[in-house]
Amino acid sequence: MKRHNPKSRQHPDYYAKRAKQENFPARSVYKLQEIQKKYSLIKKGYRVLDLGCAPGSWLKYAAGLTGEKGRVVGIDLKPVTEGIPDHVRVLSGDVMELAENPDRCLELIGGGVDVVLSDMAPSTTGKKDVDAARSYNLSRAALLISEALLTPGGAFVCKIFQGGEFEEFIASVKSVFDSTRIYKPRSTRKESKETYVIGIGKK
Ligand SMILES: C[S@@+](CC[C@H](N)C(=O)[O-])C[C@H]1O[C@@H](n2cnc3c(N)ncnc32)[C@H](O)[C@@H]1O
Repeated sequence: MKRHNPKSRQHPDYYAKRAKQENFPARSVYKLQEIQKKYSLIKKGYRVLDLGCAPGSWLKYAAGLTGEKGRVVGIDLKPVTEGIPDHVRVLSGDVMELAENPDRCLELIGGGVDVVLSDMAPSTTGKKDVDAARSYNLSRAALLISEALLTPGGAFVCKIFQGGEFEEFIASVKSVFDSTRIYKPRSTRKESKETYVIGIGKK
């Protein structure tokens, strides 16, 4: 019988169990942790915007990295019910709408930010091309918000489902940042089409 290595991403429960033990509401925290270990994007005192922040794992992890002198603002359609530290603020809203009005977004957030994170995921249909197109639209909205809110030198982390418009999205990120990376964390489910596009050094 084939046995699972409990630490491998093939094991269905490893990251979910670990998140529970470490008091994070979702296993997705380990994706951001891997990205942070590789690229060191979030530093003490930074201002971070987290698009699609519910149930709150990235918020909690990012808040630990910025410390109390930093600020983390999260936005989601759904509420965050977990306890959050004092330097974290959660707004209820649709990122697609905010992207249409960047000035309003800047006003809501209360100024520019050093890092924009987007772990937004669309509601899925099971049809790969439809789901990838929805994910592309969310990623485009996140990039528009980044262009408006990121300070020069700032960074962008964005989940996207790989599909027909993937290369187009990479080209758009390249036009906004000095360098662009594509990174699939080990903690991503093996069957998932998602990957992360990372923009470093906003022009
Ligand atoms: C995978 S979850 C994010 C998990 C989060 N990073 C964490 O660690 O807890 C994706 C989130 O994107 C949100 N989302 C999807 N479309 C959105 C939109 N248009 N505006 C705001 N949030 C959206 C969903 O409501 C969902 O909570």
